[in-house]
Amino acid sequence: MRQPLVAGNWKMNGSAESIERLLDGIKGSLDTVEKAEVVVCPPFVYLSDVRRQLTGSSVALGAQNVSEHPSGAYTGEIAASMLLDFQCRYVIVGHSERRSLFGESDSQVAAKFAAARAAGIRPILCVGEVLEEREQGITEKVVVRQLDAVIEEVGVEALADGVIAYEPVWAIGTGKTASPEQAQEVHAFIRGRIAERSADTAGQVRILYGGSVKAANAEALFAMPDIDGGLIGGASLDAEEFISICRAAV
Ligand code: 13P
Repeated sequence: MRQPLVAGNWKMNGSAESIERLLDGIKGSLDTVEKAEVVVCPPFVYLSDVRRQLTGSSVALGAQNVSEHPSGAYTGEIAASMLLDFQCRYVIVGHSERRSLFGESDSQVAAKFAAARAAGIRPILCVGEVLEEREQGITEKVVVRQLDAVIEEVGVEALADGVIAYEPVWAIGTGKTASPEQAQEVHAFIRGRIAERSADTAGQVRILYGGSVKAANAEALFAMPDIDGGLIGGASLDAEEFISICRAAV
């Protein structure tokens, strides 16, 4: 059985003060979450504070990005080994904002997946199509391209060391969620594609949905057989909303 996972991607939001309040709220209601593994991904500079505030709680720490390089002259970058120093268990790679705003290519994302995995950190690999691609009917083609770049780099079985997040770009921060059926269709496609190469891996790998998940729509999304939790943006900045989403993961 795959344990559901709900990860909060805080993006570039918050302050030391607001984060402390948010974590107090999350920790205070965590005992109401029965099934989900809960992860928070703060901006890099707060990792140390958040780690300290999470001591003794079951909430795992994640980062939002990682360099594909192990060390060296890469000003402004953060290596996987550094994330490990802060006990990060997860790191998001290939978020659509990184791909579109910072020009990350499929092969660079694959190298980031490999670097995180080599350090013992579970990469959360984001895939998903933009609106024009959905309208052109090439959603599956786009997702296959993004997924295959990683499979070529690390092999299909390595996917089970990470997590996949299907995030249709048109649903991110827009309030337009994919319907549970639309999301399930792509999730089943992704799992089927992996199963063609390794049935075991396909059975093990968790596939999260991301894009305007809220307490009000989480239950219906998470009830779908191939949706194993969510990657949550805006709604993860509100403790009550985030915990309600975590509770909906079954
Ligand atoms: P929203 O939940 O704000 O749509 O963001 C989703 C996302 O990008 C999570 O990584």
